[in-house]
Amino acid sequence: MIDVRNLSYSYSHNKSYAIRDISFEVGEGEVFALLGPSGAGKSTTQGILTGLLPIQTGEGEVAGFDLRHMSRDLFNSIGVSFEQSNVYGKLTALENLAFYRKLFDVETEDPMELLKMVGLDHVANKRAGDYSKGMKHRLTFARSMINKPKLWFLDEPTTGLDPTIAGQIKDIVLKRKQEGTTILLTTHNMFLADQLSDKVGFIVDGELKLIDTPRNLKLKYGQRLVQVDYYQDGELVSETLSLAEAGEKHRLSEIVAAGNIETMHSREATLEEIFIKVTGRELVYNEAD
Ligand SMILES: Nc1ncnc2c1ncn2[C@@H]1O[C@H](COP(=O)(O)OP(=O)(O)OP(=O)(O)O)[C@@H](O)[C@H]1O
Ligand SMILES: [Mg+2]
Repeated sequence: MIDVRNLSYSYSHNKSYAIRDISFEVGEGEVFALLGPSGAGKSTTQGILTGLLPIQTGEGEVAGFDLRHMSRDLFNSIGVSFEQSNVYGKLTALENLAFYRKLFDVETEDPMELLKMVGLDHVANKRAGDYSKGMKHRLTFARSMINKPKLWFLDEPTTGLDPTIAGQIKDIVLKRKQEGTTILLTTHNMFLADQLSDKVGFIVDGELKLIDTPRNLKLKYGQRLVQVDYYQDGELVSETLSLAEAGEKHRLSEIVAAGNIETMHSREATLEEIFIKVTGRELVYNEAD
């Protein structure tokens, strides 16, 4: 569905690249998550793949279309949920979707059904301009499904949403995945990436550092961790120690020997911890994630 090789992009057409030498493949029905901190190049990559940004260096195919010879037909096959919602403020939600569906030459979804799906049916006739940020975001997300896309681009689909609605969005994505939709998810939310993706790619400073399945990454880089909370000089201290590293194992036995443990439990490394280990960089979250 997606096969891109050596993509580089510079907004200023000079030596400063937003993305550099990016190559990856996404097979039919797969969910691929591009995971990386703010400014890493996730939206730039999505922009090129959806024809929003012209290809500069590299080559590739998206849904059977050559990126160097984009055709309008590509837009019939893909859905794009943008990071920034871009709906028409003067139109109601229903009018927005009714207008948008006319732009496609393929079978489309019923606008009201989509609004129901994202919990906006009760405000379907309200002007989108009067919507809250989270509501606009859901409308943008709903709009991206209108042409029943075989390939769906989701840029930060749950950012800024309250946890209940973020959970509903995640369930919709899971359902579409089960129905065979191919999905490119770009996010800095590693929980979402872990739950939804078949493969994740770690992107930092415009470079794709690694691609693998979440499970392989955990097997390869994840070590068994022990989180121990103990009292030291009357204060509760928390430490996370790896059982795979001799020094940390020794530290754990020291804590145990001191006998002031409040709680202790073992856990698997999270995707975020693996990301930090592999790239040496932190993923930064928005408060609302
Ligand atoms: N329109 C633009 N003009 C100039 N530079 C840009 C533009 N859009 C992005 N950039 C730069 O390109 C780099 C990659 O940005 P991009 O938006 O792709 O990152 P991102 O991974 O999507 O970040 P975020 O998590 O904040 O959405 C950044 O250095 C950014 O400043
Ligand atoms: Mg972005």
